[in-house]
Amino acid sequence: MREIQRIAVLGAGNMGGALIGGILKAGMARPDQIVATTRSAEHASEVAERFGVRATAGMNREAAAESDLVILAVKPSTLGKVVEEIREVLHEGQMLLSVAAAVPIKLIEKLAGRRMPVFRAMPNIPVVVEEGATAVSANSVATIEDRALIEKIFRAVGVVCFVDEEAMDAVTALSGSGPAYIYMVIEALIAGGLKMGLSHEVSTRLAEQTVLGAAKLVRETGAHPAILRDQVITPGGVTISAIHELERHGLRAMLISAVETATNHSRSRTKALLEQARE
Ligand SMILES: NC(=O)c1ccc[n+]([C@@H]2O[C@H](COP(=O)([O-])OP(=O)(O)OC[C@H]3O[C@@H](n4cnc5c(N)ncnc54)[C@H](OP(=O)(O)O)[C@@H]3O)[C@@H](O)[C@H]2O)c1
Repeated sequence: MREIQRIAVLGAGNMGGALIGGILKAGMARPDQIVATTRSAEHASEVAERFGVRATAGMNREAAAESDLVILAVKPSTLGKVVEEIREVLHEGQMLLSVAAAVPIKLIEKLAGRRMPVFRAMPNIPVVVEEGATAVSANSVATIEDRALIEKIFRAVGVVCFVDEEAMDAVTALSGSGPAYIYMVIEALIAGGLKMGLSHEVSTRLAEQTVLGAAKLVRETGAHPAILRDQVITPGGVTISAIHELERHGLRAMLISAVETATNHSRSRTKALLEQARE
């Protein structure tokens, strides 16, 4: 695998911080090999204290100049400004990894102004508890060794798969935004428990564990969820009466439409950004 001596994490917020944690946990770098940047000095001190890494407010250029891997973890609206800031110091042997939602590789390449390995990843927020779901795309310059390195970073914070960049809008709609849908499901299950007289504490504990356990069973058995659902149903029983209600209100159709609508929304944003890359 490619040897990395120094890593810069530009924008060590929720996502950047989670990646620093994952990199350290995976033993891919020591704290003294990582430099992180934030906007505010206060947040930089917090990051330095939490991970034992060097962290500065701004100074993206200095951080990028000395690193082999530059992780762009600022908000998509700030990405252009940050890449322009570091453009002059980018050099041979470096790689760029962006986690900015919707920003196409072509635009990053154009902003960077040189041919270099560029990765675009779409992680989701459970990376902060090392249960993220991440999809990654790479440009044609990236080698198998480069890909293995990026894969290792995201494996340290959950599961990872490589996809063609065209799939990123659907990925964003499914797993990028997905935690928000599941929070709504958990919230509604808690409310159901409360309505039926369970305490807040008991409802919350049972609802969260039900979602976690059901997901774990899908993963560990490899069975289709419909098979697992059928195993919970007793003819004429309680579960089928609830499933009838869920079908009547269109739960599955709603979720399919949610992913479809979010994909289309993401596609229109991507299209506008791709046009910007062509200008
Ligand atoms: N959160 C998610 O679920 C999720 C999922 C997939 C992808 N992403 C992507 O991850 C990226 C970061 O999102 P986030 O949720 O981690 O946001 P966040 O917590 O707000 O992190 C952004 C970080 O960027 C820093 N920053 C702002 N301007 C900067 C500058 N000029 N130079 C250096 N650092 C600067 C901020 O510093 P301060 O703390 O000092 O303000 C903050 O630490 C976004 O592009 C987003 O699309 C997020």
